[in-house]
Amino acid sequence: MRVGFVQNKPIFAGVRENLAQIEELLAGQNADLFVLPELFATGYQFKDLQEARSLAELVPGGVTTSVLTSIAKKTNTFIIAGLAEIAKDKVYNSAIVTGPNGYVGKYRKLHLFDTEKECFQKGNLPLKVFDIAGAKVGVMICFDWRFPETARALALMGADLIAHPANLVLPHCPQAMVTRCLENRVFAVTADRVGTEGRLVGEEPLNFIGQSQVVDPGGNILVRASMTDEEVHVVELDLSLARDKFLNSRNHIFNDRRTDMYLK
Ligand code: ACM
Repeated sequence: MRVGFVQNKPIFAGVRENLAQIEELLAGQNADLFVLPELFATGYQFKDLQEARSLAELVPGGVTTSVLTSIAKKTNTFIIAGLAEIAKDKVYNSAIVTGPNGYVGKYRKLHLFDTEKECFQKGNLPLKVFDIAGAKVGVMICFDWRFPETARALALMGADLIAHPANLVLPHCPQAMVTRCLENRVFAVTADRVGTEGRLVGEEPLNFIGQSQVVDPGGNILVRASMTDEEVHVVELDLSLARDKFLNSRNHIFNDRRTDMYLK
């Protein structure tokens, strides 16, 4: 399977320009799945719920879903990407899954970070694993990394690969995702952004740390992007590595769990 990510630097509220730039970055690229960052078309730092609501879109039905679906059809790829979703007047920090045959589904971020709590509702959909180009692909968004239960639950549901749209501001995530991959023997594709946003009076500007990456089930970093540049990378994955949960002939990382002695 060929998997890629886009690391971008969105213009805040420049949805049309940001979508056009993604189309340019993906032109001529070839992969079965591309992962794009969290909130990749709007930017991250909404001033308040009202501003988030003004930039949030129906999923499906909004411009971001429709442009990404048209790119997916044209380039015969799947795309997983983060966006602000509006549903019954509530705003969610969501990710969509779309592909060559159209819109597939969505995920709503379960663990909201810091000021996101003022702008978004907590996700209310169960974690889900999607069938994508022969792979089982789980979706989580950015700060979900800080709760190891998220990746574990997706792995126990059969995910070979975790698609992880992100807007990282804490330094620990790229290394923590190496651990998430080792713990679960899965692949992970983290798609982050670069640049700075300082839209909130009285709050420190946010520096997004880039370092989008693909990690394999052995904890090897197959590719890691810079902290500063807009980049696209594609790598080839051998999914059988994620389907073998034996570390050696005696240790199976799921079957050896002592769920009789601690939380399941
Ligand atoms: C984050 O969850 N975007 C830090």
